[in-house]
Amino acid sequence: MDSICSFTPPAALAPAYHLAEGQLQELSGLIENRLRHDNPFLEEVFGYGFRLGGKRLRPLLVFLSGKAVGEVKEDHLRAAAALEMIHTGTLIHDDILDGANIRRHLQTLNIRWDPRTAVLAGDCLLTQAIHLTTEIDDTTCYRSVALACRKTCEGELLQTALQGEFGMTEDDYYRVIRGKTASLLECSARLGAYFGGASAKCVERFAFYGQGLGMAFQILDDLLDLEGETESMGKTLGTDLINRKPTLPLILFLANAGAAERERVLSLLNKDNPTSEDLAAVTGSLRDAGCLTAARRQAERFVADALASLDKTCPVMMTAEQTDAYAALESVANFVLSRNC
Ligand code: IPE
Ligand code: IPE
Ligand code: MG
Ligand code: MG
Repeated sequence: MDSICSFTPPAALAPAYHLAEGQLQELSGLIENRLRHDNPFLEEVFGYGFRLGGKRLRPLLVFLSGKAVGEVKEDHLRAAAALEMIHTGTLIHDDILDGANIRRHLQTLNIRWDPRTAVLAGDCLLTQAIHLTTEIDDTTCYRSVALACRKTCEGELLQTALQGEFGMTEDDYYRVIRGKTASLLECSARLGAYFGGASAKCVERFAFYGQGLGMAFQILDDLLDLEGETESMGKTLGTDLINRKPTLPLILFLANAGAAERERVLSLLNKDNPTSEDLAAVTGSLRDAGCLTAARRQAERFVADALASLDKTCPVMMTAEQTDAYAALESVANFVLSRNC
């Protein structure tokens, strides 16, 4: 099974990945091992989603948070593998929901095989992840991971319920993304600090850092869905408008535009089969009204809050490795705002 992560980090993130290189390699080995199966078809399906690895951002947060407060241990590795499996499982399901064709630069499972195979492969990854956490002799990890998984799925479900609800508020949107995206990133930073031996208060601050980073991550993802490049993102873009999923720029636009502009955009979105020109016209209106920039400003606020929380956890005296880990966590937060992949 060729499942080694081949993500080449942008220069600003290279030190962060370098710092956790050993653990990320071990993680690949652990995931590869866990996805082995004596049935070649099952092994192929399980390994497929991991073929190009993705960015491994959740494991990276587990390891860096651990290094910032103490040492990275075996439990960090298992927790990171479980979180990455949950993440990949939910992406496989998400691609069915969104009708996406490309993920991690490859065909999605629902295209490479079919939606039935993809549903079941996603289920297997989610349950395999939970199984893995039961091997850690600490119920905190099991509970946190299971809760984050539940919140991720609930966020996706809530989003599905709000599809086509163009009256949805900014708060509704934050509820959706706090569940579907921020909960796993929050859990990653939380468990990294927890297994590193941080105090309860410090663990909560790391969790808040992860949550803020996750909120900003999804806001940027939604901006990139409107104006990113498939080539660098490695996944199908433009699905949010096609699937009538209101994201932050559109919500801000609809809440602030004049009646005529609002009606013009809604009539394009409500067409039975909007063309790519129709959707480009919607994006153009959002841009002209300053709503893409306004959404970005909001993401910047989440990152600033995340960094302020992280700052409060800094000990007065730090080892060189801790200093590097803090710098790396800061670089990950800044990457979220500048990413194109
Ligand atoms: C994609 O997450 C799904 C979102 C939460 C927006 P990533 O961008 O971290 O996906 P991979 O793991 O790198 O493929
Ligand atoms: C869903 O958000 C991410 C999950 C939590 C599964 P998106 O639908 O925006 O993610 P992408 O853009 O397909 O990666
Ligand atoms: Mg999607
Ligand atoms: Mg997206």
